[in-house]
Amino acid sequence: MSTSATTPLRTIAVQTASRSYDVLVGADILGGLGSRVRTATGASRPFVVTDTTVGPLYLTRIEEALHAEGYDAPSFAMPAGEVNKHLGTLGDVCQAIAQAELSRDDTVVALGGGVVGDLAGFAAAIYMRGIQVVQVPTTLLAMVDSSVGGKTAIDATAGKNLLGAFLQPSLVMADVQTLSTLSPEVFVDGIGEVVKHAVLADEALFEELTVHPLTQAADEDYLARVVARNVEIKRDVVNTDERERGLRQTLNLGHTIGHAIEASSGYRLGHGHCVAAGLCCMARATEALGWSEPGLARRIERCVAAQGLPTTTDIAHEDLVYQAAFDKKRHGDSVNVIVPTAIGSAEVRRVSLEEFSRIVELGCSGRSC
Ligand code: NAD
Ligand code: GLY
Repeated sequence: MSTSATTPLRTIAVQTASRSYDVLVGADILGGLGSRVRTATGASRPFVVTDTTVGPLYLTRIEEALHAEGYDAPSFAMPAGEVNKHLGTLGDVCQAIAQAELSRDDTVVALGGGVVGDLAGFAAAIYMRGIQVVQVPTTLLAMVDSSVGGKTAIDATAGKNLLGAFLQPSLVMADVQTLSTLSPEVFVDGIGEVVKHAVLADEALFEELTVHPLTQAADEDYLARVVARNVEIKRDVVNTDERERGLRQTLNLGHTIGHAIEASSGYRLGHGHCVAAGLCCMARATEALGWSEPGLARRIERCVAAQGLPTTTDIAHEDLVYQAAFDKKRHGDSVNVIVPTAIGSAEVRRVSLEEFSRIVELGCSGRSC
């Protein structure tokens, strides 16, 4: 990443039915965390939850920022990775918060990627029936998606994100400089959700990404601008539909097939890689069915491939349909699929599992890139 002397602090105001808060996006902004936490939460004690990879990189900086505001800032580092986003870890985090004697007015600070954000957010949602959470996302995926909008969850043996709660954060601080320490694989994984947002709501961003793919080496101001634009796109959706009764379902574009790919791979493939492939599969199928404008699938494939993400899957159709039958978004014998009708628009359609099987057959036919 090349640093830029001119990366302004961007503030995106989110206003949902349950809480209003700011998402701050910038470079080298974590030094201001302490005073921001005090202003946004009024908490007398922040408790930091991080993981064993992010902690050694950024916890000292976060502690210094909180100490500068007079906070003692106890912390807990959970083992890193999706395999640890389960009930056992949640119990450990809740015990650590209780031992630190946090009170009702205090806040959890989630420092890490989507796994830490989801689990620490869920701990905050259930500790004393709900305290506050501040999200400090450190992966691209967490910055553009999981830290905003209030979904928190852990995985159960029967499925991913099966146990959870809505808890809007009180503040989100995304410092794009933290992206420089990500593994290339994890960085690229986050671009899947970026392309999804562009397909849903911003043709200019979509074209820009196709011509100038997002890379870790990019100028930090370009990264910050793209992150902030993604937060605005998500903000516009969750402001209207916090609880996913309607419009918010469109954020699941690419996810029904994507989750099926993820589950069929035994969660070896990253979420964003699977969403990207799911998005392309969906676009090919819906174009073939006449539900999307002609040429859309090719455009999406070009943008996805330019980011270094897969445009299809070699997982068998039957496995994908089987996994989709267990998806959280299933309703009886049908599933809701999100149809990209054009760049900048999408609609929700309920299809039977039989129709879904046809979609998978039409969309996921073997051309790996
Ligand atoms: P992650 O949190 O597991 O992070 C990926 C890896 O990168 C981890 O090993 C982590 O320790 C490491 N890491 C994080 N930040 C780093 C940094 N700055 N430098 C070096 N290493 C770093 O994965 P993720 O992709 O961020 O998040 C995926 C999770 O997000 C999934 O559990 C998914 O279900 C969830 N999610 C939630 C929502 C939501 O709305 N709540 C939306 C999308 C995804
Ligand atoms: N990641 C989709 C949502 O937050 O609704």
